[in-house]
Amino acid sequence: MSTEPFELDTVKVDIDDKVAIVTLNRPHKRNAMSPQLHLDMVKILETLRYAPDINVVVITGEGSAFCGGMDLKEFFVQNRDDKVAFETSFRAATEWRGRTLRYYPKVTIAMINGDTFGGAFSIVEGCDLAVAADEARLGLSEINFKLFPGGSVSKSLANLLRPRDALFYGLTGRPFDGKEAARIGLVNYSVPLDELRGNVMELAHEIAAKDGEALRATKDGYRLALEMSWEASMDYCLAKQDQLTIRQGGGWMDQGIGGFLDKKFKPGLTSAPE
Ligand code: COA
Repeated sequence: MSTEPFELDTVKVDIDDKVAIVTLNRPHKRNAMSPQLHLDMVKILETLRYAPDINVVVITGEGSAFCGGMDLKEFFVQNRDDKVAFETSFRAATEWRGRTLRYYPKVTIAMINGDTFGGAFSIVEGCDLAVAADEARLGLSEINFKLFPGGSVSKSLANLLRPRDALFYGLTGRPFDGKEAARIGLVNYSVPLDELRGNVMELAHEIAAKDGEALRATKDGYRLALEMSWEASMDYCLAKQDQLTIRQGGGWMDQGIGGFLDKKFKPGLTSAPE
């Protein structure tokens, strides 16, 4: 069964072969994350999680912004006197960025097409890879409106950036461009805006063509090993190898190593043939 494109109130999903493109779709509000957008993202990530034909999820924004951060009006002001509504929104907001993306079974790529502020940094950090337009404007703007990088943002910064960069931009709130985002390691690299989509889709398809179970194990091995002792990680990865063998039906041993030993391909240079 192949996954079809679909659309919710604030986010739309397009499909390009084994790649799903998730577009935050509130361009008139610079794709700021309203409570509804968080709920939509929870639903979309849950749907794509089980799509067997999708290996990579690209997240981007409609119009001139990637994501303007939290919707300061709908998320903070309108929920100000309703504790339950605020906590419901907060939970969805931190769940999909701080947990779901981090342990997601598909590879995720943030395609940063434009403005990226505050809470949007958690999307960028939650994705496995990120590519920005040179011209994008990014910033930890919280300090400029007398807040601090709250929710999951502080943890995201501590996880990804060097202390000097995290505190420099957190304390000044200065905007910076995509090239600077690459220099400080917030994104993998940046390219001119008019090359962004082509570049990211080429990367996404390159990854999506690989074995989906091996991609998932690569992510799990990295992310979970970070949190484990050396011994626990060794044992986990050994168990993971057995799990992979069962999930693939022997793929890495038979077609992978087997194909190399039969001189069908050189894994140092290319993937195993289908
Ligand atoms: N929350 C709520 N609304 C937002 C928003 C946000 N984070 N970011 C943008 N918007 C809204 C604006 O209020 C405006 O709405 P209106 O047309 O109803 O007045 C609309 O989006 C367009 O924004 P505007 O400021 O006119 O666009 P711009 O291109 O000149 O500037 C930004 C874009 C992102 C630089 C600017 O909107 C901004 O500074 N936003 C706040 C960013 C921020 O601090 N985010 C962190 C939140 S954690």
